[in-house]
Amino acid sequence: APIRLTDYRPPAFLVDEVHLDFDLKPEATRVKARLTLRRNGETGAPLRLDGERLKTLSVAVDGRALAAGEFTEEAHSLTIPGVPDAFVLETEVEINPAANKALEGLYMSGGRFCTQCEAEGFRTITWYPDRPDVLARFTVRMTADDSWPRLLSNGNLVETGRGTDGRRYAVWNDPFPKPCYLFALVAGELDELADSFVTASGRKVELKVFVDPGMSARAAYAMDALKRSMRWDEEAFGREYDLDLFMIVAVRDFNFGAMENKGLNIFNSSLLLADPETATDLDYERIESVVAHEYFHNWTGNRITCRDWFQLCLKEGLTVFRDQAFSADMRGEAVQRIKDVKALRARQFAEDQGPLAHPVRPSSYLKIDNFYTATIYEKGAEVIRMLKALIGAQAFRKGMDLYFERWDGHATTVEAFIACFAEVSGRDLSAFFAWYEQAGTPRVRLASRWTPETGELEITLTQRTPATPGQADKRALPVPVRLGLLDAEGRTLAFELDGEAADETLVVLEGEETRVTLTGVTSRPVVSALRGFSAPVELSSDARPGDRYVQLAGDADLFNRWEAGQEVARDLILARAGGAPDEVGEERFAEAMGRALNDQASEPAFKALLLALPTESDLAVASPPADPAAIHAARQALRLRLAVHLEDTLKRLHLGLQDGGEFSPDAASAGRRALRNAALEALAARPGAEVTALAEGHYRAASNMTDAMGGLNALMLLGGGAFTSALEDFRARWKDEPLVMDKWFALQARDPSPDALDKVAALTAHPDFDARVPNRLRALVATFASANPARFHAEDGSGYRFLADQILAVDRFNPMTAARLVEPLGSWRRYRPDLGARMKAELERIAAAPDLSRNVVELVSRALEG
Ligand code: ARG
Ligand code: ZN
Repeated sequence: APIRLTDYRPPAFLVDEVHLDFDLKPEATRVKARLTLRRNGETGAPLRLDGERLKTLSVAVDGRALAAGEFTEEAHSLTIPGVPDAFVLETEVEINPAANKALEGLYMSGGRFCTQCEAEGFRTITWYPDRPDVLARFTVRMTADDSWPRLLSNGNLVETGRGTDGRRYAVWNDPFPKPCYLFALVAGELDELADSFVTASGRKVELKVFVDPGMSARAAYAMDALKRSMRWDEEAFGREYDLDLFMIVAVRDFNFGAMENKGLNIFNSSLLLADPETATDLDYERIESVVAHEYFHNWTGNRITCRDWFQLCLKEGLTVFRDQAFSADMRGEAVQRIKDVKALRARQFAEDQGPLAHPVRPSSYLKIDNFYTATIYEKGAEVIRMLKALIGAQAFRKGMDLYFERWDGHATTVEAFIACFAEVSGRDLSAFFAWYEQAGTPRVRLASRWTPETGELEITLTQRTPATPGQADKRALPVPVRLGLLDAEGRTLAFELDGEAADETLVVLEGEETRVTLTGVTSRPVVSALRGFSAPVELSSDARPGDRYVQLAGDADLFNRWEAGQEVARDLILARAGGAPDEVGEERFAEAMGRALNDQASEPAFKALLLALPTESDLAVASPPADPAAIHAARQALRLRLAVHLEDTLKRLHLGLQDGGEFSPDAASAGRRALRNAALEALAARPGAEVTALAEGHYRAASNMTDAMGGLNALMLLGGGAFTSALEDFRARWKDEPLVMDKWFALQARDPSPDALDKVAALTAHPDFDARVPNRLRALVATFASANPARFHAEDGSGYRFLADQILAVDRFNPMTAARLVEPLGSWRRYRPDLGARMKAELERIAAAPDLSRNVVELVSRALEG
């Protein structure tokens, strides 16, 4: 039965203190827990604790061991009737970390012990009220043989030594009360990179990043990102770190990106380790943002946590908002915004259009793990961005200050968060709250009427949100629309609003329709609306065909300049895919693209984004029922036209941006590399000996992984023997580097050539492939299903069958990761009916399989119903 938000009840018991004692052995770890409990609800009610896969050895209340009949143990719970109002509970259980391939709770990675508890993994470690609104102070003791010399947990190290049996032990204490999902433990052989940070108030914090032996040089960038994050949070939000020690550990086997455990963040090594030879600029960028994200959770997530899992966006949406603001400060606002919006549209807009659409704050779920979604994270961040736009930066900061002051040390709700902003701004935010409760992407329409005689421009905004599963009727939402005007040359056109001169304004669409009149508009205007993507909506307008070219050439808002190019490209590709190519339009686009690429005033990073055509997945979302083969062919045709038309420009950009000297991961250098590689990719749309030689030369001469992958990518697009031998060369060089080999697998998964699926299927039998390692599984299988639409959507359904087989196989040992593979099949209604039917048939085949996990059952059944 689903869990519902409306069923929330405060915990029946609170835990003040927890003492955990781990006797660490891979196949049989003993966990003793001593909980100081206090009744919080109804007198006389029994104590009920969560637990899964635990072998219970003993249970005692206030020092008295309970007999078998004095408590009830079920598959997921332990119930003790007749407990006093305050007492000490002691339990001992045995667990098997070595057998734990679900990578939830305590498990082994690379021979080391590590944990992942969010959301509900702590219950596989010990009996406990596993819910985020029970906050306790943890003391953790652990003992292990010498094979596991480093013994880490949350908070401060209290004591280390050797016991009477000669084994090592360590005791940790975390002074900050926390929910058990923030508990962490790591034990093993690790190298450390150490540094320190002096907080704004002058406290010295030790910083340590722990990595596999020999890898500490690769932690330097993460350490640097950490120090910048700590400073930034002080400056932007007034938030200082609170303990004397902050640790990060990198592990290879991890179900997702990283985890914000108090004082002991645990990272997927792919989001932590980097050096120029093995990591791309994109890796550096993601490391910087994820290190910041997890660090920022210390205040938004840990000091203030969620009352229940329906409030997940309270910490995730807010923390993504914070990490995006940090990245914008580090790497440039416009470029960062474009990247964030691309990701939002690719993942969240697609989610909103499919059977898995849900509100930023859902109202029911079967497995909370299935709700770590783009909607909760990315749309959750957009909602906060809109809030800031609506009430202004100053009121926003005041509201955050109030939130930190009022809720520090508590578990709370989205309502309580929004109330802080309503209070400081004096605004009624009740209509705004619907952004949290309503699923779906609003469609906003803009119509404008300019009267040359009076210089008046009347702008009318209307909205409508399509129905989503379970939510047929939609309310109108407040939509902040930032807009400005351009003249026919693309120059900023000033106007007046309520008697004040302005270059730009914020119009808030409230209710179904809002109308504003700008005056003093002296020449025919081009309206540049939704600047900076001021709201997560789909905007359409009555703009004339030429307006987008005006914007592409000169919009002062770089986001909209980029957007204009994307829209032109999208329409051209879809026209061709629909059998009505616009050859004249394509030539005009190529011309305009050439001018934009030659514009000396704009940055390489921006040009690289401009040059990238909308992805096949974006185009599929924009043209239901989608025909992936037609989209692929049409997109190829436009790429070919650009390659022919822009040959000289592209060659010049590829060859002219070489950076001599030492590698630097900074944004400007990365931007130059991005443009060089984008230009090469564009050239590779037209195969030939010359471009093959260029790509091969680029690959062989590369002194960093970004350029090596750029060369390999172009060779893949060109195909043939040069690609095969480069792949072999790459593997020979990197076979002992798992993170680099993940790239090798992922690249082949993206190969658009006709026999790609056979190759991908063959790679699942490659000696380096291991489905038990999520990074490797995602590199091959998830990349194929999500980034290779032309081959995934093979006419005979073989791509779908391949994915379904993988989901079934992985679900036997890792339900969380298996469930994450379901999404590409879930969008079956959006595809050509014959393809959709084949996708659906695979979902039905999965649904009919015996012993499916609840994770997969929930997603597959929603995908079939939706
Ligand atoms: N809180 C972690 C983060 O955003 C992610 C945890 C994901 N947990 C899960 N069960 N999917 O950084
Ligand atoms: Zn997070």
